[in-house]
Amino acid sequence: MILTKCLPLIWLSLVTLCAGRTLYQRPGKGVKDDASKQPIQTSRPYNIAHRGSNGEIPEETKAAYLKAIEEGTDFIETDILSSKDGVLICFHDVILDLTTDVASRKEFAGRNRTYDVQGFKIPGFFTFDFTLKELKTLRTKQRYAFRDQQYNGKYPIITFEEFLAIAQDAPRVVGIYPEIKNPVLMNQHVKWPGGKRFEDKVVETLKKHGYGGAYLSKNWLNKPLFIQSFAPSSLVYISNLTDSPKVLLIDDVIRPTQDTNQTYAEITSDAYFTYIKEYVVGIGPWKDTIVPVTNNYMLTPTDLVKRAHAHKLQVHPYTYRNENQFLHFNFSQDPYKEYEYWIKEIGVDGLFTDFTGSLHNYQEWASPLPETSKSTRQLLSHIASLVRPYAKA
Ligand SMILES: *[C@@H]1O[C@H](CO)[C@@H](O)[C@H](O)[C@H]1NC(C)=O
Ligand SMILES: *[C@@H]1O[C@H](CO)[C@@H](O)[C@H](O)[C@H]1NC(C)=O
Ligand SMILES: *[C@@H]1O[C@H](CO)[C@@H](O)[C@H](O)[C@H]1NC(C)=O
Ligand SMILES: *[C@@H]1O[C@H](CO)[C@@H](O)[C@H](O)[C@H]1NC(C)=O
Repeated sequence: MILTKCLPLIWLSLVTLCAGRTLYQRPGKGVKDDASKQPIQTSRPYNIAHRGSNGEIPEETKAAYLKAIEEGTDFIETDILSSKDGVLICFHDVILDLTTDVASRKEFAGRNRTYDVQGFKIPGFFTFDFTLKELKTLRTKQRYAFRDQQYNGKYPIITFEEFLAIAQDAPRVVGIYPEIKNPVLMNQHVKWPGGKRFEDKVVETLKKHGYGGAYLSKNWLNKPLFIQSFAPSSLVYISNLTDSPKVLLIDDVIRPTQDTNQTYAEITSDAYFTYIKEYVVGIGPWKDTIVPVTNNYMLTPTDLVKRAHAHKLQVHPYTYRNENQFLHFNFSQDPYKEYEYWIKEIGVDGLFTDFTGSLHNYQEWASPLPETSKSTRQLLSHIASLVRPYAKA
């Protein structure tokens, strides 16, 4: 009787202790020897830290990326845009309004413009109207009002090269997942010497820092990388410049591609997969296009993942977010239930998440990596977590 009463408690404490997040040391400077680092795991779906751990810390900042590394991510994800003077930066929106303090800066009051962006007239402060020096004076802020606001005004925008340094300074191998963002717009508004394109600059920067090599090749395993874009012609273009694996992002069903004006149906057909698989290793669809949603309930899944897999394309959907604002009712407000569904039922190969720590916890709980692939320190902390309940009793 007593035992029965206690069981749920014991079970709960075991779960809490055993599923305790594996913390990694914060990255320090000068860790350069890739061969001695704990390798990237390749046996379970990739944990892709969407804009860093932006569920907790303002997106695409150094702090958000360090947090994601500490929380166990496989890849840190970023969006590449350009400053007016052609420096590649990590920033998601083409306008600075929603995630920086630009609107409150008097010195930039005259920079508010309206441009045509993929067929829409968008007003705001565009990254390419500011030099890097000016961008560096801005401070970032949290995008959503219901997330932690305590870091607003603290962190600057980072450059793409600073982002690469964060990945390379990590104490274990951490992959990168940069997006060639809005290439049509960037090439319209920014001119690089020698007639170079935005895409050329991105690949040049990656190569300068030693990135290259086909998926799972030796160099790839030392410096894991997926290059993503919504623009198929950018991916086809860079296929002549680099053999790094590329992923085609797929937007909502109603949106045509920004560069080829093809519909969702066109770029997800079997004929298209046969064509594009010569250039990409996978697709990155918005998850609601895989499992359509009505009134916050999920409907029957489409055959998109099955067909992509039949073409040997990986599927990395976006975006997984813990909050009730984003979780569909089917998941009982439980992010683990959402991960379980997508990993076990749908069978995806990677997940873009705003909460890397939650996905990492879930995976450590549901499909822990073999002990041999873990560092001694992790092993010791795991043993400690196993004996702790007995020590207490
Ligand atoms: C920028 O301009 C647009 C349209 O001209 C206006 O709606 C918006 O409020 C302006 N933003 C700021 C911060 O002044
Ligand atoms: C890639 O290079 C080949 C051979 O030089 C050329 O025929 C092709 O047009 C190039 N493709 C792109 C997309 O630039
Ligand atoms: C894109 O395609 C749509 C529908 O086929 C057409 O109405 C539109 O004019 C096209 N836009 C461009 C920029 O070609
Ligand atoms: C989600 O819940 C609704 C309502 O209960 C149900 O009809 C639907 O089949 C569920 N979707 C999935 C994918 O399980």
